[in-house]
Amino acid sequence: MATPAVTRVLTGITTSGTPHLGNYVGAVRPAVAASRNPGTESFYFLADLHSLIKAQDPAKTQRSTLEIAATWLACGLDPAKVWFYRQSDVPETTELTWLLTCVAGKGILNRAHAYKAAVDKNRADGEDDDAGITAGLFMYPVLMAADILIFNANQVPVGRDQIQHIEMARDFGQRFNHVYGRDYFVLPEALVDDNVATLPGLDGRKMSKSYGNTIPLFASRNEMKKLIAGIVTDSRAPGEAKDTEGSALFQLYQAFASAEETAAMRQAYADGIGWGDAKQKLFERIDAEIAPLRDKYETLIAKPADIEAVLRDGGARLREKYAIPFLAELRDAVGLRDLSKQSAGSEAKAANKAALPQFKQYRDSDDRFYFKLLDGEGKLLVQSAGFDLPKDAGRAIGVLKQARTGDELQTPEIQEVLVPVEDVLAALAAMREAA
Ligand code: TRP
Repeated sequence: MATPAVTRVLTGITTSGTPHLGNYVGAVRPAVAASRNPGTESFYFLADLHSLIKAQDPAKTQRSTLEIAATWLACGLDPAKVWFYRQSDVPETTELTWLLTCVAGKGILNRAHAYKAAVDKNRADGEDDDAGITAGLFMYPVLMAADILIFNANQVPVGRDQIQHIEMARDFGQRFNHVYGRDYFVLPEALVDDNVATLPGLDGRKMSKSYGNTIPLFASRNEMKKLIAGIVTDSRAPGEAKDTEGSALFQLYQAFASAEETAAMRQAYADGIGWGDAKQKLFERIDAEIAPLRDKYETLIAKPADIEAVLRDGGARLREKYAIPFLAELRDAVGLRDLSKQSAGSEAKAANKAALPQFKQYRDSDDRFYFKLLDGEGKLLVQSAGFDLPKDAGRAIGVLKQARTGDELQTPEIQEVLVPVEDVLAALAAMREAA
């Protein structure tokens, strides 16, 4: 399943809270635009299992999942063109999580930023290191790796804070490939877009639920107007020139306006536009973009059964096409198999190895040390002379391994060559090749 022909781009959306303008400008809008790129197969999913780590109010989890699904659909994500699904509808992800858990280094998880921050906070508070920390928080990166690896995604667009998680996904995937001897997983890359704006909130700090300074994306027009009226400004009066630098209002405007509109607003600042007028212009500009989306959102959210059907359909098709067959392959890879069948899986490799010629060292009844060279079927090719010390026998093997001509086989260390010299040289060459 490795190396898909088109680039697979995968993004997980944590289903917590109500989407705000910062989420829209920083995540939804660019992702929907990217989903229309040709040559990519896009995967967008609601990371509802991840949300359980923090959100443990079932009604809120359900509500947030509905709102976020409706948001992405309203903003133009087309489930006929991209994979749009809910993490918990693809149970192969959780099964893969366990397979990855068994190769993931605990030490790597110990270093995860989110887990370390929680431990550091406990220490600062004089608590036990792991007080109040669930195993879910600790295992978060493994579940995330499974999200990505189950579909062999090539690229994962994320914010800087998530880069470490992608590196861990690579690490776990690579370990699995190594342990089970084949490139089952594509190693994903983080795609970080530094051009995406982080939006200021009402108080000028980054718009974030944790600061309580957000403007909900689909607030009603009245509510939106009221919130915008509350954006912090300085106390300059109408007619006084205003600074665009450091103006949250200006940055918000810029995130929605064209280059010409932005230039015009910059001029208006210089000309001393009153804050009330500037806020009205900002409201109108945002509303022009959001109002049609809000209408769609309201239609969608009024029919939760339709959204449910869209998500289930996406998940079901995706399982059928990729997750179920791939997980069957992975189960086989690790040895979770039908007992009645001899697998042609990784043992084929072992059988291959057995088919190679090999050296055998042993001690004989005369108490001296010997070696033999045997072919894949166990036929004797070369018999050594006796050595006083095993390391001398080892050294002679080292010399013999390098032999490329018949002359090099004519040494006192070798007592007997039992087959044509060319056969011995071919056997040695095959061993070098396989090493
Ligand atoms: N951890 C991501 C975030 O907080 C959400 C997420 C879960 C995710 N699984 C993912 C993102 C897989 C990308 C790929 O934003």
